Amino acid sequence: MKKKLIVYYSYTDNTKKIVDILKDKLDVDIVRLETVKPYSGSYDDVVEQGKKETDSGYMPEIKEIETDLNDYNEILLGSPVWWYTFAPAVRTFLSKYDLSGKIIIPFITNGGWIGSTVNDIKNMAKNSEVKNEINIKFNGSNLETSMNEINSWINRL
Ligand SMILES: Cc1cc2nc3c(=O)[nH]c(=O)nc-3n(C[C@H](O)[C@H](O)[C@H](O)COP(=O)(O)O)c2cc1C
Repeated sequence: MKKKLIVYYSYTDNTKKIVDILKDKLDVDIVRLETVKPYSGSYDDVVEQGKKETDSGYMPEIKEIETDLNDYNEILLGSPVWWYTFAPAVRTFLSKYDLSGKIIIPFITNGGWIGSTVNDIKNMAKNSEVKNEINIKFNGSNLETSMNEINSWINRL
């Protein structure tokens, strides 16, 4: 079986916490998406900027990925919810790279308002099979979804 690849974006490291859990349990390679221009200002500034970006479908430039995506059939795609959808850097990733024929497994962290995040990924990654997603809730930086739920999701992958 080919290795799985985790591709994720994380602004306040909640999504990274899920990556850390995944990498202990699965044989995976990991790519962290980073914007070329880092978000700056207070958290509230970034929340406001995020609203403008998600409203307009803006795609920030992201740093080049060194990993060859052709080596993987399955991508675990991690994103926080930003204004009821996935983060702009993930939009750039989905637009820039050819993921046709691959399986995409979304893991989405949120503060309680998931919106249409997974459906938006499905709509954008039309040539991929998007399935087996999980929505994981945080309260601030505290994980609220139970480890039982997360572990049983991982066991199904
Ligand atoms: C710009 C911005 C917009 C957000 N919008 C939402 C939202 O619409 N719904 C929600 O539940 N949480 C929202 N959040 C909270 C994050 O989804 C949540 O804290 C997530 O776990 C952060 O993941 P990260 O630490 O990996 O960046 C937002 C956070 C930011 C920074």
